[in-house]
Amino acid sequence: MTLAELEELKAASLKEIAAAADAAAIEALRVKYVGRNGSIPALIKGMKDVPQAERPAFGKAIQAWKAEVEAAIRERGTGNRESGIGDREELDLTKPGRWMALGSKHPLTRVIEETARIFGRLGFTVVEGPELENRFNNFTALNTPPHHPSQDRTDTFWFNDDCLLRTQTSPVQIRTMMANKPPVRVICPGRTFRRDTTDATHSANFHQIEGLYVDTKPVSLADLKSVLAYFAKEMMGDGVTVRFRPHFFPFTEPSVEVDFTCHVCKGKGCRVCKDSGWIEVAGAGMVDPRVFQHVGYDPAQVSGYAFGFGVERIAMIKYGIPDIRWLYENDVRFLKELA
Ligand code: PHE
Repeated sequence: MTLAELEELKAASLKEIAAAADAAAIEALRVKYVGRNGSIPALIKGMKDVPQAERPAFGKAIQAWKAEVEAAIRERGTGNRESGIGDREELDLTKPGRWMALGSKHPLTRVIEETARIFGRLGFTVVEGPELENRFNNFTALNTPPHHPSQDRTDTFWFNDDCLLRTQTSPVQIRTMMANKPPVRVICPGRTFRRDTTDATHSANFHQIEGLYVDTKPVSLADLKSVLAYFAKEMMGDGVTVRFRPHFFPFTEPSVEVDFTCHVCKGKGCRVCKDSGWIEVAGAGMVDPRVFQHVGYDPAQVSGYAFGFGVERIAMIKYGIPDIRWLYENDVRFLKELA
């Protein structure tokens, strides 16, 4: 092909583009000339057969042709094929924008993230453990004897004699202490499982957030209370604090149940707190010396506290959700309410 022939082809192609009737015709011409298998890329590929001396002039002419074809196509208005922007007939700047569905975080995720932020300010880091646990981590090391009802087949999902779905996030305490020397200061959010029949306040699959602080300096119940009081206020708002009621857990001594001031009536008594002014939210206590022995810590050298919250419980009181099942149904109307 000579340079003159090339110029002819170019003139013809530009004429074609100028004469194209609609967007589809322009697109067809784009494919014909500059598409992957179009005639211009074919010419560029064929450059190697052009005599050495003519190559620079020929190359320049082809590039110029390509640029002009592209400019002409842009000019005709199909420069942006994906969006259709620039399709002159279609462009209407007065049309309303396209609606885009914005997602939002699930209430349980929000509570977990907010908890991590609050305890993060107090120096706690987040660690996680597996949902499939062994008997030692979930029970034995937590000072829970084999005859304890929680080990029963009717309470716990067992796979075999040793392997189970964790019934609490407390085994993460064990894993953390076995892998680290004191001091440790962690919270452990995660999924937990119990053989509960589902109703408005129970689910066989729920979430907890464990907390553990162990130090070689003396740690007291007062430390625990101040940290939980800070958490209560940050999570539920001013005027919300905590109270402790004596309780029993095999892995803490002493053990307490933790109540928040009812955030609705601020303690005066209302329907939400069944007129008591308080809402139960967590179990807690000072780590039992036997737990320290199981993980290889010297109970004479260390002390610490642990606590465990129900995430659903916090979400339900914080957002006023009356039925735990709403948290798992993924009904977009419900999720949007909180967005
Ligand atoms: N694991 C306990 C439960 O599931 C809660 C708890 C955690 C209690 C840590 C004391 C210390 O009920």
